[in-house]
Parts: sequence; C-alpha cells; structure tokens
Amino acid sequence: MEDLKGIWAVGGGKGGVGKSFIASAIGTALARRGARVLLVDADLGGATLHHFLGIKKTAASLSDFFDRGRPLFELITGTPVPGLSLIRGHNATLGAENINYAQKNKFLRHLAKLAREYLVIVDLGAGSSHNIIDTLISADLMAAVIVPEIIAVENMYTFLKNALFRRLAAGLNQIGRQHVLIDTWKNRHGYGIKGFKGLIASLSGRDDEIGARVREEIENFRIHLIVNQARNRQEATVGNAVKSVCRKYFGIDCRYSGYVEHDEFIGRCVNRREIYMESYPASRCAREVERLTDNLLTGRQVSIIS
Ligand SMILES: Nc1ncnc2c1ncn2[C@@H]1O[C@H](COP(=O)(O)OP(=O)(O)OP(=O)(O)O)[C@@H](O)[C@H]1O
Ligand SMILES: [Mg+2]
Repeated sequence: MEDLKGIWAVGGGKGGVGKSFIASAIGTALARRGARVLLVDADLGGATLHHFLGIKKTAASLSDFFDRGRPLFELITGTPVPGLSLIRGHNATLGAENINYAQKNKFLRHLAKLAREYLVIVDLGAGSSHNIIDTLISADLMAAVIVPEIIAVENMYTFLKNALFRRLAAGLNQIGRQHVLIDTWKNRHGYGIKGFKGLIASLSGRDDEIGARVREEIENFRIHLIVNQARNRQEATVGNAVKSVCRKYFGIDCRYSGYVEHDEFIGRCVNRREIYMESYPASRCAREVERLTDNLLTGRQVSIIS
C-alpha cells in the first residue's frame, strides 16, 4: 500500500450527492490500510471536506495557493487519521470558473508533483465547468458519484459528456487537429450528426490519424461510477442503468465500482466532529466503502440484480 501513488479525482456534476463524504471515506480506508494519502479539497464553490475529518479549521488552505501564491506542499496538514493528510479548500467562495488558465495549469502541476509522494484524492466541486473537468481528466483514476435520483443522473450525463469532449479535445490537440472536433461539433446539424455517438463516428471516419486518436481516447476513458445514498438494492441498480446508457450513447465503458447506502450517522458524525469510518467501522455503510475501495484498486465491478 505504501507504493500507492497518483491522483484520484472524485466528481459527479450534481451538488450534495456525497462527493466529499466518499472522498474522505475512501481516503480514510486507504490510509488505514497503510497508504500515504493526501486529500485535497478542490471545491472552490464551498469547501467542506475538512468537516468529514472532524477538523474545524486549518492554518493553511487553498486560499494561500490561489490568493497568495504559496506552493501546495506548504499547505498540507495532518488529520486525526494516521497516514491521512489534508489540504483544506479555499476559505471563501472563489468558484472554479474564476480560476484562470495559468492558475489551473499551476494547480495541476503542483498536484502532479505531490502525487509522486502521496496518493492524492481530489474532491471536486459540483458542476461541469472547464476547470473541474480538466482536473478530473488529468487524474489517474476518475470517479463520479451519483444518487438514485433523476436530476443527479441527468447531471452525470452532462458531466461525462463534457469530460469526454475535453479529453478528445486534449488528445486531438496533441496532433494539432483539435479544430476538427470544434468545427464538427459546431456544425453537427449541417453534417447530419446525431448526438455524441454520431460525433465520434463522424470523427473516426474523418482520416486515419484522427480516427486512431479518437478510438484511443474513447478506449482509455474509464470512469468509475459510485452510487451513494442508496436506500435499497433497487436504488443501487441505477449504476447498471447509467453504465448501459453510457455505452449506448457515448460508446464508453464505465465501471460500476460500488454503492454506499444511506446512513444518517454520516451527518451526525459531522456534527459531532467525528470521522464516520473511524467511529462506525463495522457499519454496513463502512463495509460498502471498504468494498468500493477494493474495487477501485482492482478494477472490479458490481452488478446489482434487482
Ligand atoms: N451515504 C450517505 N448517507 C447519508 N447521508 C449522506 C451520505 N453521503 C453523504 N451524506 C450527507 O449528504 C450531505 C452532502 O454530502 P457531501 O457534502 O459529501 O456532498 P457533496 O457532493 O460533496 O456536496 P457539494 O456538491 O456541496 O460539495 C452531507 O450532509 C452528508 O453528511
Ligand atoms: Mg463536496
């Protein structure tokens, strides 16, 4: 476990689905197994990750990085969990959309440096803005959290579509052909392109170089789906549904990595400044987080039969 390094990003589009809880719980589970984990609260719209770790305030935060130019490594603080560190989010509501291109690139560069020493788990804010999506697609493992609710599922499709689009754009940019993607998407109605799958088919057939690059990006695009706050097995099947819709409409193969059920003690722990995974390690929810963590490490999936 000590060798586990890299960047895992946890996003999902909709607010309040449990991204921060899941990031903190996976981080705690991995630290307890001996990994050196650094949680980064990149929710620039409202930092809450520290609350799930029983921490009120830290001396340093991302404000020191974005407003005062301090390097990320100086902002690391310890947590009550051995092996688990934290970079607390921005003090105020900065908003991911207010980060400029240079700041975003600097942030990603600093994260990459930290990922040589830690398994960095990034808690992304809600939404699908460029900065959130670019942080997601730069990660070694991309995780997306949904709850069994139509709005969360719809937001997830927008989130995934934006992520796939940005990944394709980055891939085509490397061969100097990004403009083909932009032009094809802008003029899709004229080209008779229907939906995202149509866009991919059109690009794939454009020429060998573009086709090969697009196929490569699609094949390597691995999103790990996490269903949170499921109240029964039936609700957990939403993960299967999202997976098949993604294959049908985007041509991508998502991994359904696990589900975590609803447990009111998660909120109670926040109020009591306790860490759920430490206070209730034998609860069903904690065991589901452990299984989810196993699956993220091994690539295994769950398949729920209702
Ligand atoms: N499995 C769960 N069961 C019960 N409550 C949960 C569960 N997961 C998260 N919660 C609660 O739901 C609320 C939202 O969780 P959290 O802050 O992790 O969501 P988020 O997606 O990070 O939200 P935001 O978009 O605002 O950052 C919190 O009050 C948290 O305690
Ligand atoms: Mg959050």
